[in-house]
Amino acid sequence: MEILIRRSPEEVATTAADIISTHLKPGAVLGLATGSTPLATYQELIRRTKEGEISFAGTTAFCLDEYIGLPPEHDQSYHYVIRNEFTKHIDINDAYVHSPDGMNPRPWEAAEQYEKAIVSAGGIDIQLLGIGTNGHVGFNEPATSLRSLTRVETLHSQTVSDNSRFFDSVDDVPRYAITQGLGTILRSGQALLIATGKGKAQAIASLVEGPVTSQCPASVLQLHNNATVIVDEDAAFLLKESDYYRHVEEARPDWKGLDGRPKL
Ligand code: PGA
Repeated sequence: MEILIRRSPEEVATTAADIISTHLKPGAVLGLATGSTPLATYQELIRRTKEGEISFAGTTAFCLDEYIGLPPEHDQSYHYVIRNEFTKHIDINDAYVHSPDGMNPRPWEAAEQYEKAIVSAGGIDIQLLGIGTNGHVGFNEPATSLRSLTRVETLHSQTVSDNSRFFDSVDDVPRYAITQGLGTILRSGQALLIATGKGKAQAIASLVEGPVTSQCPASVLQLHNNATVIVDEDAAFLLKESDYYRHVEEARPDWKGLDGRPKL
């Protein structure tokens, strides 16, 4: 894993946008996350698109997850949120922005179809991820199989409580979701997890320096062969080896690209 520590949430967003930009070309498959943390990154990508610096033309996107029971036009469905916050402001073809079908009365089939659609698209080149205060990624809650594929998940009470800020009341938060699994995330070409603020510090310490355990689902990234974690100083403050992670970045060899691979 590469750990990039930034002075502010704005710098986290700039670095995340830099890395995502390295993947942009027709045919690229992007994995998108919802939640508050990616918003600044999306703003930066929108700005760069509007200024003609980058283009999403010819790319395909797959959202990480979707609530079960919210219609696509509901303003908290991730189908709606990803368009409202990001994809309607960039030059991606809306028909190529996918999310699991949270209204399918047989959600387990919708989950299987989604996993197959990702595979048919050639797999995700770069997967953007946030992290929950309980260490979840996507909606993979504690005790998720480390090899799980896209499936139905029951939300943890901590997640329901964390996400209630987006709804009128906690009772309105759906209790189930379809989420890409940890095994799905492990198959991505590059996993890019971003976190800001002291509220994420414990989850980041567990992800980066704790054991690989389904109790901190994000720790599965230790098994990913090209994972990058970008954090601000608040989210980094419980990391014991932060000086070393800074040194690794400063000493990055010239030949190594931001996408984690040798520059051609
Ligand atoms: P947040 O959510 O970015 O809104 O904090 C992250 C997550 O739950 O994955």
